[in-house]
Amino acid sequence: MDLLIQDKVHDESRQGEALVLEPVIGKNNGRKLYIESYGCAMNFSDSEIVASILSEQGFETTSDFNNADVVFINTCSIRENAEVRVRNRLKEFAGAKLKNPGMVVGVLGCMAERLKAKFLEEEKLVDVVVGPDAYRDLPNLIEQVDGGQRAVNVLLSREETYADISPVRLNSNGINAFVSIMRGCDNMCSFCVVPFTRGRERSRDAYSVVVECTDLFNRGYREVTLLGQNVDSYKWTKPLPALSKGEGSNEQDNLEVLSHGEDLGEAVVNFASLLEMVAHVSPELRVRFSTSHPKDITDEVLYTIAKYDNICNYIHLPVQSGNSRVLDIMNRTYDREWYMNRIDAIRRIIPECAISTDVITGFCTETEEEHNDTVSMMDYVKYDFAYMFKYSERPGTLAAKRYADDIPEEIKQKRLAQIVAKQQEYSFYRMQARIGKVEKVLIEGFSKKSNNDYCGRSDQNAMVIFPVSEHYKPGQYVNVLVERTTSATLIGGIIPQTP
Ligand code: 5AD
Ligand code: SF4
Repeated sequence: MDLLIQDKVHDESRQGEALVLEPVIGKNNGRKLYIESYGCAMNFSDSEIVASILSEQGFETTSDFNNADVVFINTCSIRENAEVRVRNRLKEFAGAKLKNPGMVVGVLGCMAERLKAKFLEEEKLVDVVVGPDAYRDLPNLIEQVDGGQRAVNVLLSREETYADISPVRLNSNGINAFVSIMRGCDNMCSFCVVPFTRGRERSRDAYSVVVECTDLFNRGYREVTLLGQNVDSYKWTKPLPALSKGEGSNEQDNLEVLSHGEDLGEAVVNFASLLEMVAHVSPELRVRFSTSHPKDITDEVLYTIAKYDNICNYIHLPVQSGNSRVLDIMNRTYDREWYMNRIDAIRRIIPECAISTDVITGFCTETEEEHNDTVSMMDYVKYDFAYMFKYSERPGTLAAKRYADDIPEEIKQKRLAQIVAKQQEYSFYRMQARIGKVEKVLIEGFSKKSNNDYCGRSDQNAMVIFPVSEHYKPGQYVNVLVERTTSATLIGGIIPQTP
């Protein structure tokens, strides 16, 4: 079993969640769509794009697949157990389809891309298979299925960013939203299936990102998380002639910011300048981002985070392994010293920054000493959070082709348990260090356990629980004095704002 500590980027509690949205007035084709999502935040964000495309066609959403005309499952391939979960779920849909033979069942996302037409042979009940870059084709594909055929589109694109599709927000609390800024990945980490399932890296039009964030802010949202597999390599080049246009003060500001990224006469927006553009939307809009890559995160990005109060002091910087030889065969293109140097830079430039990581245990040929280097890296950084996994070989990846998956299951598990225990200590240590401090918290709603308590996140991304006050409501910021903690939560009380 993989141990996933909940986060908002790969949120275990949301796996398999069915997404529902308000019907679009005036458009109704009488058909109901059920869509369930697995995997990372990017996948959940893609489901919102799918729902947007189909709501334009008049589909309504339902949270009960038994009542649906079209049932979609947006899938993840990152580890084998993610795929096993989806296959089991498809068996449940088979029962519903028996009762309602007209039901269209579709597989979307990373598994669709990985298995392609093979899926239609393996899973007899699946009618349509659609990869992550082909969602615009869904209306045609559904039509083909209605016409009695089975339909596949798994073409990957070098351009598609869905920039013009304003995603509907599904199951939203109206406060936090994910905004996808790029798609695909060019890194080729040897363990990873993503370059194969999501294709080449491409960055989305910076203006469309700012417009989406501004629109979210105007609708009451107070936090955006900019999403990409490797946000630090975000790079978008503005076609020159239209540069001088821009209406509204936000956009004017953003044009000025844009000039920081100018390069050889072409307006280039890098991640630091994009962050700055989004930070300018409003000081009341919190900006988060995920995922950073140790080889690409620049001091310029760190200084930008330090400069703006509304860019949160939290960086997810996956290390994967603390050993340079293992990092080399993982094709991570940095070594232990480089990673430590990046950590030192974060501590120097943003002293209050929380840092989280991803770790894989039992990668091909990893020795006990090499594993101990990962443990000592955890001692060095004392991460605030970590997402820890046993290596799971994925067909088609560089590691599957080049190296034997030779670490026995019990050893992978033992190493995983060791780092999980270590991380619990450090999470608790980091939480304890907040006792007596005042955290600025964005109220997200009532706590899961009680309607007498609110919950929200601190700047450093820690969950904070505190008694409800009638003076404040979700979507507002409050100062909370931390009184005690668990290893995952800060507990305290609101202190009145000084005018
Ligand atoms: N096996 C185990 N963990 C993996 N990850 C990616 N691919 C694999 C794999 N084949 C982990 C990495 C990555 C996170 C999203 O999932 O740690 O950062
Ligand atoms: Fe997301 Fe990767 Fe899973 Fe695809 S394979 S859904 S990109 S985590």
